[in-house]
Amino acid sequence: MKNSKEIILKINGRNEKITVPSHRTLLEALRETGHVEVKCGCEKGDCGACAVLVDNVAIDSCLTLAWTSEGKEITTISGLGTPDEPHPLQAAFRDLGAAQCGFCTPGMIIAAQGVINDNPAPTDDEIRMGLSGNLCRCTGYAKILDAVGHAASEMRKNGEPS
Ligand code: FES
Ligand code: FES
Repeated sequence: MKNSKEIILKINGRNEKITVPSHRTLLEALRETGHVEVKCGCEKGDCGACAVLVDNVAIDSCLTLAWTSEGKEITTISGLGTPDEPHPLQAAFRDLGAAQCGFCTPGMIIAAQGVINDNPAPTDDEIRMGLSGNLCRCTGYAKILDAVGHAASEMRKNGEPS
């Protein structure tokens, strides 16, 4: 492909080689490499469905060019936990009824992890602000806020994030 370049993206701890044109977004590159757990919503930074952690900071992958993430740690929702060993945020969303359709949930949990990475003891308002870029059309947000607060508290008890 003309103007394409082979890059290596480190996704959930594994190096993955992909050939991308310079305009390929990180969202497109992730989904092309099989990471369909990263959801594609608006593709213009409005919904947060595509959020991933890049070097522990939550970003909208639809607004990020893939090549700019080379050499950085990219974490998708699949890199946080597994069905058998869920991450505290995943467990809290499950247990407190914060996930319904699941389309927004991956980005919501990633954004929440970004908030907690920045501040392990966020206030309700700080959680609200941190999730303000993530839209959900199912739960009405109250349960999501409760789940994030609960998970942050559990993580502090467990000494996470370190
Ligand atoms: S798909 Fe990226 S913010 Fe909506
Ligand atoms: S649970 Fe978020 S859009 Fe439905």
